[in-house]
Amino acid sequence: MKKILIVNGPNLNLVGEREPGIYGSDAMPNIIKKAIAFAGSKGFECTYFQSNHEGEIIDKLHASRLEYSGIVLNAGAFTHYSYAIRDAISAIKIPVVEVHLSNVFAREEFRHTSVIAAVCKGSVSGFGANSYILAVQALTL
Ligand code: DQA
Repeated sequence: MKKILIVNGPNLNLVGEREPGIYGSDAMPNIIKKAIAFAGSKGFECTYFQSNHEGEIIDKLHASRLEYSGIVLNAGAFTHYSYAIRDAISAIKIPVVEVHLSNVFAREEFRHTSVIAAVCKGSVSGFGANSYILAVQALTL
């Protein structure tokens, strides 16, 4: 069975209680549960990893490169400045879909820049919990 990995970066473990006006009140475990169920309905096994630490995210991307057919990545604030995560995405051959709950382009200016977008297969931003389902869907097509 083909496998998809969902990776969440810093502070995303607090979604549900963190700034609900921006990120919604659905807790992250529920959001992930729905994305995993969607992947299952398309015949994909889907697993989840979250870390608040840049190096752990990089290690996970490296370790996943031979095991998964694609990765959904919400790098959180690392999206906007982590060249190390960008290089890790470039270093692996499997497709990575960038995902954001909020529409980053409708927010503060520093969020308008994604240093990972150019090395990702594509990006989904602004659809709340459904952003994850849409990103998983992109990897199942
Ligand atoms: C986010 C957007 C980022 O700008 C922010 O730092 C996050 C969450 C989102 O999912 O909307 O932590 O990636």
